[in-house]
Amino acid sequence: PGETSQWRPMLHYAPRQYWMNDPNGPVFYKGVYHLFYQYNPMAAEWGNMSWGHATSTDLLHWQEHKVAMISNAERDVFSGSVVVDRDNTSGLGTVENPAMVALYTSVFKAGTGHEPGVQAQSLAYSRDGGYTWQAYKKDPVLTLAPASKNFRDPSVTWYAPGKYWVMTAVVADAPVIKLYKSDNLIDWTFLSDFGPAGFVRPGMLWEMPSLFALPLDGDTARQKWVMMIGVNPSSIAGGSGTAYFVGSFDGTTFQAENLPPAGSDPSAYNWGDHGADRYAVMLFSGRPTGAPLTIGWMNNWDYATAVPTAPWKGQMTLPMTASLKTVSGRPQLCFAPDAHYTALVAKHPSHSFSALKLDAEQRVLPDAARGDVLDIQLEIQAKGAKKAGVVVRASADGTTGTRIVYDFEHHTLSLDRSRSGKTDFSPHFSPVHIVNMSADQAMSAHIIVDRSSVEVLALDGSVVMTDLIFPPAGADHVIAFAEGGSAEFKQLRITPLSDGIA
Ligand code: FRU
Repeated sequence: PGETSQWRPMLHYAPRQYWMNDPNGPVFYKGVYHLFYQYNPMAAEWGNMSWGHATSTDLLHWQEHKVAMISNAERDVFSGSVVVDRDNTSGLGTVENPAMVALYTSVFKAGTGHEPGVQAQSLAYSRDGGYTWQAYKKDPVLTLAPASKNFRDPSVTWYAPGKYWVMTAVVADAPVIKLYKSDNLIDWTFLSDFGPAGFVRPGMLWEMPSLFALPLDGDTARQKWVMMIGVNPSSIAGGSGTAYFVGSFDGTTFQAENLPPAGSDPSAYNWGDHGADRYAVMLFSGRPTGAPLTIGWMNNWDYATAVPTAPWKGQMTLPMTASLKTVSGRPQLCFAPDAHYTALVAKHPSHSFSALKLDAEQRVLPDAARGDVLDIQLEIQAKGAKKAGVVVRASADGTTGTRIVYDFEHHTLSLDRSRSGKTDFSPHFSPVHIVNMSADQAMSAHIIVDRSSVEVLALDGSVVMTDLIFPPAGADHVIAFAEGGSAEFKQLRITPLSDGIA
């Protein structure tokens, strides 16, 4: 197929060509954000798994580099993480010029002394700031006994109170997270297991775990630990998705708190996203200050191989900061676009409608509020309406578009992509995603629209919906609507971003 430039994202990272899945080892080093990722350097389909590499100074403009670690006759290079070894605990760098250390999963091939398909954790290091990588002489550094074909996705973090590194990795099909500790990133000692726990279904895999601490409601005296995982399949929106646990970590064991009773409705659990397309979420390491910064793969294993883009297949979510806030009576992860994005929006002229009243009608907004890349801030008050919302990436006649709908009777927010453009590439491309909200007669949301995606943030960022869409070129209208009565758009600020991100 020809190049589908109408879907080439402007705000989101996508490789120039070929297949990409999980972010790997996102890390901030000497003023540069490095993003590695699961990449096939030979085709637009999953295979030959390697670590692609891109860098950015603002998380919006990315430069693609040569593949950092490449699949070869011995192994495929699966997901993992990177840390900056500032104190030179590994001895692989110096304190003046710290090594970057990657822990990743090797999937061994025949003739390597491992049974083909065995997964174990390997170490590589870079002394030139992430551009070239050397394999460590002891390989792998961590195996499971007996050997496993489902032991992967090491994520490493510095545990300051104990002054050691902690690794989480999964036995994906158990599903169990294994915790290890190390003084030098090379020798790992088993600490404990976490899981299965929470919403688990037969055949569900856990992948890409990460463990991190956050102050609750900004209060460092009330710090909690979060275990974030990818679950696949049977996630809240079908297929693969992001879940998390909030609890405590004493240096050995992670203990989840506030778990709903077994057998609860899936909506009772903590989900990092209620849309279909945020998976394998990781934290950037190496950031000295500020809230943790996350990035995920904007796709779903249910249909990732079928998405209609070319010559690339796969893109990342927008980087978002994470915080922990009490929302609806329990601590929840809250996401927000990072400051570079906010600054970008502020630099563009916006079009504001104040006190726009609609009476059971739909209104195509004027040209100043059109575009295929948009930032939308929205606050709607029901004045008798049963439902109200906006359609983005809409055709002028409204027959095509992605609907973001607030239902004031049932207190739900939904994203309907059933008429968003191309949808027939997979029977698993789920049409509608719905999330329960609070019982207010008002709703506010922040919507980020790109050429092939919509990200919706609501309820203080505790509700995120990330969804891919493949609209026809030219479907760039925004339509505001109310159904079954009147609604007042108290705030509707639309900032077209398509004029470039310079
Ligand atoms: C998650 C995942 C990881 C694995 C990688 C392989 O999407 O399945 O568990 O390391 O992708 O590409």
